[in-house]
Amino acid sequence: MNIDILLGLQWGDEGKGKIVDAISPGYDIIARFQGGPNAGHSLEFNNVKHILHLIPSGIFHPDKLNIIGNGVVIDPAVFRNEIENLGPSVDELVKRLVISARANLILPGHRILDAAIEHSKGITKIGSTLKGIGPAYTDKIARNGLRAGEILLEDFKEIYSRHMKRHLSILNNYNHKFDLKEYEEGWFEGIELLKKFRITNTEYLINNLISSGKKLLAEGAQGTMLDIDFGSYPYVTSSNTISAGACTGLGIAPKKVGEVFGIFKAYCTRVGSGPFPTELQNQTGLALREKGYEFGSTTGRPRRCGWLDLPALKYAIMINGVTQLFITKSDVMSGFDTVKICTSYISEGRECKEIPFNNSKVEPVYTELPGWKEDISKINKFDILPENLRKYIKFIEEQTSVPVTLVSVGPDRKETIFRNKD
Ligand code: GDP
Ligand code: IMO
Ligand code: MG
Repeated sequence: MNIDILLGLQWGDEGKGKIVDAISPGYDIIARFQGGPNAGHSLEFNNVKHILHLIPSGIFHPDKLNIIGNGVVIDPAVFRNEIENLGPSVDELVKRLVISARANLILPGHRILDAAIEHSKGITKIGSTLKGIGPAYTDKIARNGLRAGEILLEDFKEIYSRHMKRHLSILNNYNHKFDLKEYEEGWFEGIELLKKFRITNTEYLINNLISSGKKLLAEGAQGTMLDIDFGSYPYVTSSNTISAGACTGLGIAPKKVGEVFGIFKAYCTRVGSGPFPTELQNQTGLALREKGYEFGSTTGRPRRCGWLDLPALKYAIMINGVTQLFITKSDVMSGFDTVKICTSYISEGRECKEIPFNNSKVEPVYTELPGWKEDISKINKFDILPENLRKYIKFIEEQTSVPVTLVSVGPDRKETIFRNKD
């Protein structure tokens, strides 16, 4: 099969950017299929860290084609900022990056509405990144969206004005102060930059390339527990972050998908509101945050930290059809005498085997395993990882029945152990 999918199995920030960059040499095309600038995908090489929001994480490989698929929502202002700070020249990037004409745009009104709606929710707020994601997907589903292909139309400015007026009338319902001009200037500059890129029917491009033998890696954003259907609704994002989202977000048939790589941290983190059964609001949680530098790549907010949650991981494996597991940040867990893994939940005094649909409170049941203390960041072979870490990984494999084929031991692309290549 020529199409593989890599996606997050937890609440985002599992290390997708780093791993996509590290495995990009095995592919011809890297494509984002959902989400938008709410994503913050970090990758590191030659001692430089890059954070990508809209652009696929294969962009630093000059011979790869990167695609922003129809399922993504694009904010032109963020796009411009990202392109201009990336390193390679615009002339070079135009050769490496193609955009779907069907991708919906995030308008200035969406950003303002996101803030107004969040503010109106008070303590029940989602903890949105405030990038306009919810309102942009709302307009898409309500058939009110403005799509990337339309920026090439002669009457684009009139079309934009109609959308803007509609947004202003909705904003009248909120007691929210804003300055539209502040957003519009950068947005229109972004539109001019977008016009330099190839905006096309990427579904044809992708399927033709696949038919000619090229290999595609679909790069997920956010994580399964933030999926609009299967996450902890309403504390979720507004897109399908799961493997099925790669089919709708790129125009590829399910039967063409080969491997589904599910990526997870050795522990759990979450930014924003919503249930988090294994959250550690104590010194251990703080230690994980400090050691793992757990602060949002997009908003800088501190991430909530906790032990690995196997019921949630198994759920994500089931929904996505994960064929291989990739574990990241086990180096961060180095130093504990013992580590814990949640293996089931208790709800109202009874064992609870399923993730409750209504976010009702569950208590985690833990299995304790011996920890590991060594610095593992320079290790490049699975067999020489500390024995207790290998036991930790084996326990996860036994519980999930899915092999762990990649172990990430640091943020750099080189700090990656490919288990089958030992
Ligand atoms: P993404 O959104 O899934 O791409 O993940 P983020 O980039 O938001 O967050 C992951 C963070 O962990 C980034 O700062 C990465 O540089 C870093 N990282 C990724 N893998 C590893 C790893 O194995 N060990 C350590 N210590 N850091 C990692
Ligand atoms: P990557 O791709 C972690 C979270 C927000 C909030 C909720 C809804 O870097 O893993 P939104 O802005 O989508 O309306 O926010 O989802 N969220 C993420 N958390 N990583 C992300 O992306 C996220 N994108 C959104 O914190 O709780
Ligand atoms: Mg991130």
